[in-house]
Amino acid sequence: MAAPGAAPAAGRYVGAVTSDTPVRWGILATGKIAHTFARDLRRTPGAELVAVGSRRLASAEAFAAEHGGRPYGSYEELVADPEVDVVYIATPHALHLENARLVFEAGKHVLCEKPLTLSTADAEEMVALARRHDRFLMEAMWTACHPTIIALRRRLAAGEFGTPRHFHAELGFLVTADPGDRMVDPALGASALLDMGVYPLTVAHLLLGEAESLHAVGDTRTAPGGTFDTDVAIVGRYPGGVLATLTASITSWSSRAAALATDRGRILLDDFHHPTRAVFQPVAPVASWTEEQGAVEPVEIEPDGPVIGAGYGNEIAEVGRCLREGLRESPLVPHAQTLTLLRQMDDVRRQVGVRFT
Ligand SMILES: NC(=O)c1ccc[n+]([C@@H]2O[C@H](COP(=O)([O-])OP(=O)(O)OC[C@H]3O[C@@H](n4cnc5c(N)ncnc54)[C@H](OP(=O)(O)O)[C@@H]3O)[C@@H](O)[C@H]2O)c1
Repeated sequence: MAAPGAAPAAGRYVGAVTSDTPVRWGILATGKIAHTFARDLRRTPGAELVAVGSRRLASAEAFAAEHGGRPYGSYEELVADPEVDVVYIATPHALHLENARLVFEAGKHVLCEKPLTLSTADAEEMVALARRHDRFLMEAMWTACHPTIIALRRRLAAGEFGTPRHFHAELGFLVTADPGDRMVDPALGASALLDMGVYPLTVAHLLLGEAESLHAVGDTRTAPGGTFDTDVAIVGRYPGGVLATLTASITSWSSRAAALATDRGRILLDDFHHPTRAVFQPVAPVASWTEEQGAVEPVEIEPDGPVIGAGYGNEIAEVGRCLREGLRESPLVPHAQTLTLLRQMDDVRRQVGVRFT
């Protein structure tokens, strides 16, 4: 044991998160989403950034100068910092599994960016690693932690908006990245489905339950290192005969909207993967379809609690809550849900004709 007042020795982490101390975060990688996450972390009560690791020390130093924390020039040094409780993995998807293994072996908890891995098999391995090391693991599926999505799920389940029948969601934007960028490099997991399609599939799952069948078509592009999907369209059947149409694209600008049609009206979501507005537009009951439908006031679906920062703060707060309660997975993003969605994406990719080798 270290002498009182001595700096903690590097090595295997044995600490525990308590209710009266902040959760101490390390960030692994210094790319685009790592910066966004760090900005929200600062706004999240009970969370503190203590360290950041990068492949290049200069990059970690620049990140630390902007956001705080101790900079490290390698991921190995980051995970060895004894004051880090939980590590946020923000590398390209193809690297998530090896990064998570490093973190678990150092005895730390993990919040890992979406998609958790490239395939179900890799995700099962990551979950098994978390269990073997008795550590917390959550996919950073911020959508599931968003207070508006939580409110919508609650009110939908209570039958407030009628019976869902059709769901549509589309997410896409034009990606103009240089060769080698993770968005267009098959070796790093380039895929419209994995980057964007995971959101419509996840929201459909959260609102409708587990899909009974999914059928997909897509368009692909061949780049050095392989072929990847640039556009995907999925039709799905969900419990109760609810039908969904879901699209993802890195070649075009989608509306980023979702709509759920029920037998009482329509729920409309702007920026559905982190809703900036959610509204139920009821349709007045009429005796027959030939009668003119009466105007009914729309119902704003307010979030269940504050949205923290851009919404990443809510997933950061959820991880903190779980760690304080000694949980090893979050009820909002349980391992089984993440695995189900990865199985769906394996299936969609097979139908579209894309394989990671
Ligand atoms: N939740 C969301 O809203 C959201 C949004 C965007 C992205 N994401 C997810 O976050 C992950 C990262 O996305 P991003 O847009 O931040 O990517 P990015 O800007 O390309 O950053 C990725 C970082 O990973 C590190 N890295 C390690 N090995 C690498 C390699 N061989 N090639 C490239 N980078 C490597 C680099 O950090 P160092 O040089 O510091 O080591 C790099 O800056 C992806 O899994 C993505 O799906 C989530």
